[in-house]
Amino acid sequence: MKNIAVIGSGYVGLVTGTCFADLGNSVICVDINEERVHDLQNGIMPIYEPGLEEMVRRNIAAGRIRFTTSYADALNDTAKPAELVFIAVNTPMGVDGEAELRYVRSAAESIAKTMDHSLVIINKSTVPVGTGDWVSDIVKNTQPTPIPFSVVSNPEFLREGAAITDFMAPDRVVLGSLNEEAAQRVAQLYLPLRGPIMITDLRTAEMIKYASNAFLATKISFINEIANICEALGADVKEVAAGMGYDKRIGRAFLDAGLGYGGSCFPKDVKALAHMANVQGKHPQLLEAVMMINTDARRLIVSKVRNLIGNNGTHLNRLEGRTIGVLGLAFKANTDDIRESQPIDIIRMLQADGAKVQAYDPVAMKNASQLLQNVRLCEDTYEAIAGCDAVILATEWNEFKNLDLERMHKLMRTPVVIDGRNLYDPQAMSAAGFIYRGVGRGYATAN
Ligand code: NAD
Ligand code: UGA
Repeated sequence: MKNIAVIGSGYVGLVTGTCFADLGNSVICVDINEERVHDLQNGIMPIYEPGLEEMVRRNIAAGRIRFTTSYADALNDTAKPAELVFIAVNTPMGVDGEAELRYVRSAAESIAKTMDHSLVIINKSTVPVGTGDWVSDIVKNTQPTPIPFSVVSNPEFLREGAAITDFMAPDRVVLGSLNEEAAQRVAQLYLPLRGPIMITDLRTAEMIKYASNAFLATKISFINEIANICEALGADVKEVAAGMGYDKRIGRAFLDAGLGYGGSCFPKDVKALAHMANVQGKHPQLLEAVMMINTDARRLIVSKVRNLIGNNGTHLNRLEGRTIGVLGLAFKANTDDIRESQPIDIIRMLQADGAKVQAYDPVAMKNASQLLQNVRLCEDTYEAIAGCDAVILATEWNEFKNLDLERMHKLMRTPVVIDGRNLYDPQAMSAAGFIYRGVGRGYATAN
């Protein structure tokens, strides 16, 4: 059992803290957002993440986790002084595509000013290569009196929507440090998870995180490029991905063609890696292509709508008088996260063309309402479909996988369905009377 402090109670900090508490450790989570901390103290979740609420409440009740806005409370609790401090604050995209480190700086300064005993500071936020050394300098230069500490990089690989499972059953745990003993102390925490633990140097650990996200994003852009070619040549990308995926060297994962990647991670991390390369005078050609293909994936969905129901107006009124239903607002299923959400981007493009948009998402409506303007947010799927000239399936929520096609057909003004997630069988949709377009399903349109 270890005493752990976690700085930042968002997707990563809250899941990390809760899972470590569930493994029997004593955890205090710190956040600067008072409302968030107050809610968490009362068992109210700031995010939608399957299984999280129950786990937080259970560990609060068992006295293994608590929440505070005070660094002193978190680090210097006299009964349980923190031994290990995780930094899990946000690192959003900066103006030039770089990772914005102001929250990491502030967390490091607060730790340095507050700590009254030796600590291992573990960076879990996704940060540019070299940040571990930078954090070390900040702490050293901010401490009022020198107190020993070590910095360890421990990038996080969990996915939103599957965060607890991913955390508890990791494919690997990566630890980077110049201090082997500090890395071993962190490794002890992860032993109960029985996954492989790799210890390397700080900079390599930081790079493993960016390289992993960039590789997964590359797989997605690769399959979207293949999808585009499939459409032109009359092949079906779903079958292509299945056929490729049987090869163990390739694997089927992350070969779903669609709207391209969104979310708070891939877009900013691919961009930040390209930025790091550019700063070093390298030309990251592959990363640039990955990003361009990703932007195109969203545009191609809008082009399909225009081609099927657009009028011949200028770009300002190509969809004037048309009503479009959008099913799903989150960047993927099982989350309420709308950061860099593809559906929201697509809605804005449709609106720029003069379309009226009505939308529904099972959990992301509240967050989306803060970003969207002039969109009718509907109570359920069928309200979002009613009266539409076209419907876009934008997020792969389970409840969109089995729609009542007859009811849908009756409700729509024209039965046009653009399936941005390839959830439906093109032939079945045609048979049900729909004009249907998936992504990369050339076979269906050619026949
Ligand atoms: P988030 O925005 O959900 O949460 C960050 C939290 O940190 C917020 O609650 C914020 O109030 C708090 N915070 C900011 N500055 C603080 C400070 N100085 N002291 C205390 N609290 C502070 O972010 P997230 O999605 O959890 O991401 C955190 C980091 O983890 C990012 O670097 C991200 O790239 C990385 N990451 C995210 C995921 C994911 O699925 N979201 C997965 C792996 C890695
Ligand atoms: C991603 C990584 O999968 C995590 O390992 C990583 O920890 C995290 O980023 C991070 O660094 O923050 P996440 O963004 O939660 O996790 O979601 P993913 O499941 O990876 O999906 C990302 C985006 O790619 C979504 O918009 C999804 O719809 C899209 N996607 C995914 C595809 O378009 N096709 C696919 O085959 C897979």
